[in-house]
Amino acid sequence: MNIKQATRLDYFNTGVFTALNEEKARLQKEGKKLYNLFIGTPDFTPPAHVIKALTEAAQDPENWKYSLTESEELLTAVCDYYQERFNTDITPDMITAVNGSQEGMGHIGMALCDPGDVVLLPDPGYPAFEAGAYFGQATICYYPLIKEYGFMPRLDLLDEEILKKTKYMVVSYPSNPVGAAASKEVYEELIQYANKYGFIILNDNAYSDIIFDGKQGFSFLSLEGADKVGAEFFSLSKSFNVTGARISFLIGNKAIVNAMKLLRSQYDFGMFTPIQKAAIAALRGPRDTVDEQCREYQRRRDVLCQGLMKYGWEIPENDGTMFVWAPLPKGYTDSNEFCKLLVNTTGVLGTPGVSFGPRGEGYIRFALVLPAEELVEVAEVIGKSGILNNT
Ligand SMILES: Cc1ncc(COP(=O)(O)O)c(C=O)c1O
Repeated sequence: MNIKQATRLDYFNTGVFTALNEEKARLQKEGKKLYNLFIGTPDFTPPAHVIKALTEAAQDPENWKYSLTESEELLTAVCDYYQERFNTDITPDMITAVNGSQEGMGHIGMALCDPGDVVLLPDPGYPAFEAGAYFGQATICYYPLIKEYGFMPRLDLLDEEILKKTKYMVVSYPSNPVGAAASKEVYEELIQYANKYGFIILNDNAYSDIIFDGKQGFSFLSLEGADKVGAEFFSLSKSFNVTGARISFLIGNKAIVNAMKLLRSQYDFGMFTPIQKAAIAALRGPRDTVDEQCREYQRRRDVLCQGLMKYGWEIPENDGTMFVWAPLPKGYTDSNEFCKLLVNTTGVLGTPGVSFGPRGEGYIRFALVLPAEELVEVAEVIGKSGILNNT
């Protein structure tokens, strides 16, 4: 039987990644040393007390049943964490668990949008934002993140008609891929826009714990009026290196959270109880590993950017996230072509900027997922390869 996938899936083009993966597999087979800075999976480990909580809970057969919902204990732990970490009051009815922010973001359009609604997304931006809007049958519009404006949203440059039709806007700082961090003032201005034009703000706060040079991460919900207009995805993935456990929450405005709960009740039976226990352990446990790894990410950023600078590749230092957003070296304009050339010449795998949207063209993203010593090597391998002398 010839089985054809749904036409809606034609929208998703995995071509670039497939090509790079094939290149990677071929080079690996040839025995070439590869430096994989492609995917944002931390190489750090989860804290020991988190692993212990999960494994202990997994010994109890009761914990293998459908959990159906979040336990009181987990919801209270999230509320207490928000109070201690972000000085922000939230209540259990403002929270729903999602199976990772990726899943939440990928589905939220179905909970909020009707056909014809506009969803406003950053360009460049994290691809799941677009998937969510697309599945919600929304019309996708972009607000550009432009270097000259510090990669901040400039809604004053958008057509007012777009703002009037906008159902929700996705904001995410520190930003993947551009690495910029936003001040509270930037968000406060967006809240004013949201009130003026009647749209929702969804903040993706994946990197509040990976922020550099003395800047401080914060919650969108700590801002005046934020819970009237929006909600945020709060993920434990990157802070606690639990990416595979899929622990994240949508927190904020009750109408938004309730719409998401209703949608999710149709396809999900709740977070696995041992994972809930692990989440509680992470939220209630010491934060020294979180702070230590933030310092290590900063060290990696310094080593990579400064190492490449020595060979003439000037890369602005990012404010946060586990990514460096590098303008292509002189003489190159096509990020796909450059990534292929880079991996073939040096074994260094990066992500083509254009895969995050048209405004990402002209950039390559490096994930800081190798120890600093190896990043020193990466800079040297690239610098000595001759690839930077393309003028
Ligand atoms: C901006 C952003 N949001 C969400 C995610 C995924 O988070 P989670 O593991 O909670 O699905 C990532 C992962 O790289 C990300 O960069």
